[in-house]
Amino acid sequence: LSRQQLFVNQVLTQSAQTEPFEAKKTQGTGKAPVNIALSKYWGKRDIELNLPLNGSVSISLPGLGTETEISLIEAAEDKVLLNNEPLPAEHAFAKRVSKFLDLFRGGDNQHFAINTYNSVPTAAGLASSASGYAALVLALNDLFDWQLNGQQLSLLARLGSGSASRSLFNGFALWHKGENENGLDSFAEAIDTKWPEFCIGLVEVDIKEKPLSSTQGMQNTVNTCDLYQAWPEQANRDMQSIIEAIQTKDFAALGKTAEHNALSMHATMIATWPPIVYWQAESVTAMHKVWQLREQGIEIFFTMDAGPNLKLLFLEKQKPAIKQAFGDIRIIEPFKD
Ligand code: ADP
Ligand code: DP6
Ligand code: CO
Repeated sequence: LSRQQLFVNQVLTQSAQTEPFEAKKTQGTGKAPVNIALSKYWGKRDIELNLPLNGSVSISLPGLGTETEISLIEAAEDKVLLNNEPLPAEHAFAKRVSKFLDLFRGGDNQHFAINTYNSVPTAAGLASSASGYAALVLALNDLFDWQLNGQQLSLLARLGSGSASRSLFNGFALWHKGENENGLDSFAEAIDTKWPEFCIGLVEVDIKEKPLSSTQGMQNTVNTCDLYQAWPEQANRDMQSIIEAIQTKDFAALGKTAEHNALSMHATMIATWPPIVYWQAESVTAMHKVWQLREQGIEIFFTMDAGPNLKLLFLEKQKPAIKQAFGDIRIIEPFKD
């Protein structure tokens, strides 16, 4: 058995089923939100088990994410539909999903039909891998009636994409780095603070597929970036600061730490060889706009992931000023939507 298969089997010993890969209904469904990290994950200490070099904290965006249906088929290969388009089996998206599904097959000829719908652009730095793999694990849990809890679902989703570990929860979530090499203590859980005034604005600079996946990007950074050695320590420190800022509702501390954390992560990307620059000219223009607004006394910060789009962080009272500066951008209120 591979280490991944062993890991899956260990998690599924907690399952309500003795035959975990036998369908209990004709179709399973799952739905999960995307999440934006406030203190980020960028680098794995174990590529096979998707174990991160540091912990991370996120906020889920309700209303944006993935819905997935899955069923068993007798066929020579999986059938993958993305946004109602059938994908050829050689397509990178279909290959990644099938490789993940290899861990959940009852027999050699057991294949899946999956029909998945993303309400965010796919592979554009808007966390489609997070909602995608969380929704897929929820759909499998439904199809096979495993009845797993949030922590167990998070462990399985992590194997598909690290950030997916955090997409099983609404609101703020914390992904523990974990210490054990078996990977069973590296899962996310909800931070149960509700912050109704908390807003996120999406500045969509470009929604095309990014030139380099997060998986490949972070691997290149770990392998070639001399600045990277400073990252895990800063990231763990930032994570603690963000958790504290959430618990005390200290928005200034949260915003400052989140923005600094994102820019530090991007610094390691830029110092990678070959260089990884997800930014576009409009991304930098939007950053300057944020800094100008801050100089005018408006409390607004940004964070950015592996893509050119900015996520603005601000409190409800700043909504009019943000709308005036950025126009008709999408604003999400995670604790109200
Ligand atoms: P993103 O910033 O969108 O998370 P990534 O490079 O991390 O970009 O991941 C994109 C990949 O995630 C896709 O190429 C695909 O392999 C996977 N993915 C995206 N959406 C889904 C989905 N709905 N179901 C399964 N996998 C998905
Ligand atoms: C910049 O979770 O997409 O968004 O685990 O290889 O699938 P894989 O990578 P992924 O990386 C996310 C990187 C990030 C930061 C974050 O979400 O924490
Ligand atoms: Co991703």
